[in-house]
Amino acid sequence: MKALITAGGRGTRLRPLTFTTNKHLVPIANKPMIFYAIEKVRDAGITDIGIIINDGDNELPPAIGDGSRWNAKITYIPQVGGALGLAHAVGAARDFIGEESFLFYLGDNIILADLSPFIERFHSENLSALLAFSKVKDPHRFGVPEFDGDRLVRVIEKPQIPPSDFAVTGIYIYNSDVFQAVDSIKPSARGELEISDAHTWLLENDRPVGWEPITGWWKDTGKPEDLLDCNQFVLDRLGFAETDKNASIPASAIIKGRVSIGKNSRIGDNVYIQGPAVIGDNASIENAYIGAYTSIGSNTVIKGTNIQNSIVFDGANINTDSVISDSLIGYNARITSAKDTLPKGHRLFVGDNSFIEL
Ligand code: DAU
Repeated sequence: MKALITAGGRGTRLRPLTFTTNKHLVPIANKPMIFYAIEKVRDAGITDIGIIINDGDNELPPAIGDGSRWNAKITYIPQVGGALGLAHAVGAARDFIGEESFLFYLGDNIILADLSPFIERFHSENLSALLAFSKVKDPHRFGVPEFDGDRLVRVIEKPQIPPSDFAVTGIYIYNSDVFQAVDSIKPSARGELEISDAHTWLLENDRPVGWEPITGWWKDTGKPEDLLDCNQFVLDRLGFAETDKNASIPASAIIKGRVSIGKNSRIGDNVYIQGPAVIGDNASIENAYIGAYTSIGSNTVIKGTNIQNSIVFDGANINTDSVISDSLIGYNARITSAKDTLPKGHRLFVGDNSFIEL
């Protein structure tokens, strides 16, 4: 079986971070988000993986590579014409998929479940499609299944009045009937070929469509707070504390819980790190408290700060005695103290679509 992972789209809800970085490369516990999807697919035994990218994207292929680091083969598939919807993305992969059945995995979803039983069920029941549902508080953000009694009858994309409290998660298995579905549907009101409409087409055309509740944790990283939730989830599962032998840590530093510290990072005086937390390579930390659920990227400087439940991207420099919490701090961002500058006040140089709480 092959797998198709999405990594196109515009990531509008994660602006400004996604003005300069593809959403799928946003770091979760210091690892690009899409790596989790690739690992899940590979763990299910699939090594022939297609990745949908925006046409002309020259950021993702070098960042992900040819798949050899996962003992897999990765083929990049440009979505020519633009990010015209998930069903359009499936259509773009027709030549790559051929006649085989395939796992379709949205590259911005993070899950705990092992996919192998899901794949086994798809084959044993000879299905056209198998969907995974998850109960959510806000179904209007997702594709939502509608049932007639126990029978799944259609899937509605982002309904104002959801017919159930399930979301269709971004993990699907299809046989080649899905290509007939994507060829038959029309763009929605928002101009996209919706994967939910392809599911409804399969159901209305009597193709066998199965579903099951997803086991364990699942997250679609649509919003900034979802990234923090994912970061927490992954850090909670950090197996053990790893400190690179080239990291320098004074005896006075207090390090509690599972904390991983990367190559050539320097922990200076008066540092308290409460895990779970990860710190990348070449980071410099002094006179700071790094609280639980914080991921600090590589080549960062953290001074004087008290920071918790946050993601600090590579190259950021934070030098302030303010407390920072629940924050996403982008590549090479600089946060300094306003204490000694005149006139008093916060000086801001903030990108479009930023969010700041002072
Ligand atoms: O996460 C589950 C939800 O994903 C489902 O419940 C919805 O039915 C489904 O439409 C989708 O909704 P989202 O609004 O979350 O989709 P989003 O636009 O965020 O795109 C999901 C992934 O697909 C992400 O990796 C970006 C990529 N993408 C998206 C579009 C529209 C593409 O590669 N090409 C595209 O044309």
